[in-house]
Amino acid sequence: MLNTAFTEKFGIQHPIALGGMGSIYSIELVTAVSEAGGLGALGCHRLTPEDVNAAVKLIRKQTEKPFALNFLVFDIIEESYQTALHEKPAVISFAWPRPEQDIKMYIERAKNMGCLVTFMAGGVPEATAAAEAGADLIIAQGAEGGGHVGWMGSLVLTPMIVDAVAPLPVLTAGGIADGRGLAAALSLGAQGALLGTRFLASKQSPLHSNYKDAILLGNGHDTTLTEIPDIAQGIVWPGAMSRAKRNSFIERWAGQEWKLRQRQKEAHEILLKARKTGDIENGNLSMGQDAGLINDIADAGEIVQRISVEAETIMNRRVQDFVS
Ligand SMILES: Cc1cc2nc3c(=O)[nH]c(=O)nc-3n(C[C@H](O)[C@H](O)[C@H](O)COP(=O)(O)O)c2cc1C
Repeated sequence: MLNTAFTEKFGIQHPIALGGMGSIYSIELVTAVSEAGGLGALGCHRLTPEDVNAAVKLIRKQTEKPFALNFLVFDIIEESYQTALHEKPAVISFAWPRPEQDIKMYIERAKNMGCLVTFMAGGVPEATAAAEAGADLIIAQGAEGGGHVGWMGSLVLTPMIVDAVAPLPVLTAGGIADGRGLAAALSLGAQGALLGTRFLASKQSPLHSNYKDAILLGNGHDTTLTEIPDIAQGIVWPGAMSRAKRNSFIERWAGQEWKLRQRQKEAHEILLKARKTGDIENGNLSMGQDAGLINDIADAGEIVQRISVEAETIMNRRVQDFVS
């Protein structure tokens, strides 16, 4: 077993967390990860208080293990956050505040309810701000990852944040899809890893099968950092682009973002329709460079165990091979 400060502090078996993914609603995915001994997370972005309440009830029907409720701070719905706190999940996870927002207030309210708090950071200043505001764990999110990401690669960002927030535990996110990635994260001083794209290509992921197949076929080179999906959806993200597959939709608008703003509604309709029908050329296919490492649509619980065992084997045997 891999025992780390993350597994010990959060009462889980494997140092693997599911990324909170606001656009991916699957109770089965959250519970499969938690039941397997990882930390499941439900993205609560734009969920109403009633949605949050219903989701937590369903999760608790399927697992008694710890799980996280994830909020994007810049777009938080106060009533939904209050409902989440009232439910007292083991963990509240945060990402993407606007610089002027009072993150301490959000963190303190979660801690007052007995929740552990994690905070995702794409740079050292954001990580130290969250640590000083009382977060229990920092997630160093590298630019390889899927969805909205910062600008630094995980290999550099992780040890920088580990040093900056010590002794707080850190997870690496971005580009990790197998045991080699988890072993690397642990070697960089992280206490575990948080994964998004790997779990998008799982049996419990609610994505259209064409989207999952696009991850399997993806080689990582075919992703790009872009603002186009946000512009089309009418969202202004506080200082981040998102990593997505460079498909026909992105190609069509690249360099013509001004024009896309004029035709936002029409473009949004196209995205929504594509998501429903599985049209991978006209949809927003958020995915990380680690799509290049993903070759099967596996059970989410099996993914947790497989990655943990593989990392343990590497740490036990392979690393020792190099040490005389
Ligand atoms: C489709 C998608 C939606 C995401 N939505 C959120 C979100 O709502 N909140 C959040 O904290 N992170 C979100 N993320 C980021 C993930 O939590 C995580 O940092 C990222 O997926 C890690 O990189 P990887 O995809 O290479 O594993 C999202 C990622 C993806 C792919």
